[in-house]
Amino acid sequence: MDSRAATKRFAVVIFLIVALAAGTARSGTIMGSDHDLTSLKPPKLTRQHPGQFYNDYADACVYCHTPHGANPAVPLWNRLTNQGNYTLYSSSTLNATMEQPALGGVTRLCLSCHDGTIAVDTLVNYPNKTYTVSTSHYKMAKTDNPHGGSCGFCHMWFYENPPARDVKPSFMTTSLADDHPVSFVYNDSLAQADGTLESPSSTPSGLGGTIRQDMLVNDRIECSSCHDVHNPDIFPFLIKSNDNSALCYTCHIR
Ligand code: HEC
Ligand code: HEC
Ligand code: HEC
Ligand code: HEC
Ligand code: HEC
Repeated sequence: MDSRAATKRFAVVIFLIVALAAGTARSGTIMGSDHDLTSLKPPKLTRQHPGQFYNDYADACVYCHTPHGANPAVPLWNRLTNQGNYTLYSSSTLNATMEQPALGGVTRLCLSCHDGTIAVDTLVNYPNKTYTVSTSHYKMAKTDNPHGGSCGFCHMWFYENPPARDVKPSFMTTSLADDHPVSFVYNDSLAQADGTLESPSSTPSGLGGTIRQDMLVNDRIECSSCHDVHNPDIFPFLIKSNDNSALCYTCHIR
């Protein structure tokens, strides 16, 4: 083997090692996580939970994806989405222009559960198998009206004695005014205008590429800029650790 071939093979080996390491870093699985809606039952929980409040389809993916007839087509989405407007974040110091989450964009997909307007088990295509049909289809809403089909009926701040982890903060409502801004363009000119933001096209994200490559969707900040819906390894589904505010300081200048 001549030295160029050896160098090439070496490069391939290095590539594979890097690829495998990257694979391991994102090895977390949605199975059994809070995004596996089949898992909210024993043995993970001490008491039976699904079936009563939402359908257990015995398939984690089907709550969000379908192999056929998806809407929107990408990423083979299987949930109805709220088509209405959201109350957006606003402040006197904001430089970015806030926009309504794009119809079919990833932020709206997240909000199809998290805004509490659509039941977590309401699908576009229901699986062709038997499952326990829920009589009341529960939404991730804070209201404690038992007939309103709200998870908040039980998940109030006092719902458990002794209290289990409160899931209420996941119920985000249709007001995004109290949430980190999403659904707006974050490019180098915004960074320049603001003065306290890193340039997304050149600043490393810490995930392998730049902020623009790894965290933005069509140059926009969306829920997936900070969260990985499939990977529970870094709680709560974060794309990188926020220890010492590392996530925040990826984009905001120290
Ligand atoms: C009738 C009451 C009731 C309703 C309605 C209800 N839950 Fe629960 N939930 C509970 C109880 C009780 C527990 C704790 C169970 C255990 O630990 O065995 C729990 C646990 C959970 C947990 C685990 C919390 C932890 O500490 O890890 C999640 C997540 C959850 N529920 C989500 C939901 C969602 C989403 C809905 C609506 C679709 C919902 N729940 C509706 C009673 C309820
Ligand atoms: C709670 C909702 C949810 C569940 C459950 C879910 N996904 Fe996803 N999935 C998404 C979202 C949202 C996207 C869009 C990804 C993004 O932009 O962050 C996606 C994208 C994908 C993609 C496109 C590639 C990618 O990673 O972006 C694949 C493949 C995928 N999901 C497979 C699966 C499989 C397989 C399962 C079941 C084991 C599953 N998903 C369960 C929400 C979900
Ligand atoms: C099929 C419904 C559904 C969809 C779609 C969905 N989630 Fe969730 N999500 C849940 C449920 C149920 C929980 C559990 C409630 C809790 O633990 O507070 C949860 C919890 C979370 C948590 C808290 C982490 C934890 O373990 O408690 C985060 C963060 C989160 N979701 C982000 C997202 C993002 C980002 C998206 C879109 C990319 C998304 N979710 C889409 C249902 C959904
Ligand atoms: C700029 C980064 C960023 C964006 C954008 C973002 N989040 Fe988060 N989110 C976080 C961080 C960081 C936490 C953890 C906060 C903590 O632990 O104090 C979190 C927590 C959460 C939680 C758990 C709340 C709780 O306390 O249980 C949910 C649910 C959630 N996010 C959903 C979303 C959804 C849906 C979107 C899009 C509408 C979104 N996030 C956009 C950074 C972000
Ligand atoms: C992916 C990049 C990114 C990450 C990660 C991120 N931010 Fe931001 N954040 C932005 C951008 C861009 C803006 C819009 C700034 C503007 O237009 O003035 C913003 C806006 C804000 C604002 C509102 C500023 C105002 O003027 O009203 C606050 C507060 C904020 N971020 C805090 C945080 C915190 C805390 C974290 C960590 C949990 C975080 N950000 C993570 C990019 C990010």
